[in-house]
Amino acid sequence: MRTLRTIAEVRAALKGARRDGRSIGFVPTMGALHEGHLQLIREARQQHDEIVVSIFVNPTQFDDPGDLAAYPRVEASDAEAAAGAGADLLFAPSAAEMYPDGFASTVHVGGPTDVLEGASRPGHFDGVATVVCKLLNIVGPDIAYFGQKDAQQLAVVRRMVADLNLPVEIEAVPTVRDPDGLALSSRNARLAPADRQRALALSRALRAAECAVADGRVEAGDVLGAARAEFTAAGVEPDYVELVDPTTFASVPAVNGNALLAVAARVGDVRLIDNQPLTSTRSH
Ligand code: PAF
Repeated sequence: MRTLRTIAEVRAALKGARRDGRSIGFVPTMGALHEGHLQLIREARQQHDEIVVSIFVNPTQFDDPGDLAAYPRVEASDAEAAAGAGADLLFAPSAAEMYPDGFASTVHVGGPTDVLEGASRPGHFDGVATVVCKLLNIVGPDIAYFGQKDAQQLAVVRRMVADLNLPVEIEAVPTVRDPDGLALSSRNARLAPADRQRALALSRALRAAECAVADGRVEAGDVLGAARAEFTAAGVEPDYVELVDPTTFASVPAVNGNALLAVAARVGDVRLIDNQPLTSTRSH
């Protein structure tokens, strides 16, 4: 695996692949790679000839400077892990390469950015959309891979790709969890041991909602009530527990077809998010 620092190097490295009709799979990341990221890379490896992974801690998507400063930067071990999972090229640019002096453009996606993470973290999705749009233009992949864990980010990226006619397919890869249910996240390493246990409130809330739907209790009141009870039991105050449409992120009154339960909570100093796709075929 080769590590590239500049946009020109990436374009040069992929020119031959593109000319020869070799397919390109792309996994954008901010580094601190865990099993969830490696799953994205392995999925891409199975489907493409050239696998590009990017590591860029994107400053424009952080609304809290402390969070940006605390974000783990471990490029050497990330490079080893990415190569082990099957990456061919690692793009690890500087902030100046991505945002040179005079940079003045922002990609703003409406719709799914207005609520939940968008409401809690003003500007966050503008930063995500802008950097993902740039990365897709730089790499020019056939398919880009995103984790289901960041379901709202996934919806925003899909909306942007459709609205701007970007020639790429977006593939979602299921959330990877620890055996006790906690969704893998680079932030988990910052949880104190007691908070690690309390953090299970999020995944337990999702399981409780799933059980409610399986029992035929599909109204939002029932699903949300079951989920909120798990937060109360763990003594964790959620930022939000919402039943939404997985594409628009608008609230829905019941699980009728496909819906998504999205949860977020601050546990100790760490803000965690999780979600569960829910399906019911019961008609109303
Ligand atoms: O999900 C992430 O790690 C980031 O938001 C992404 C998609 C790499 C953009 O910086």
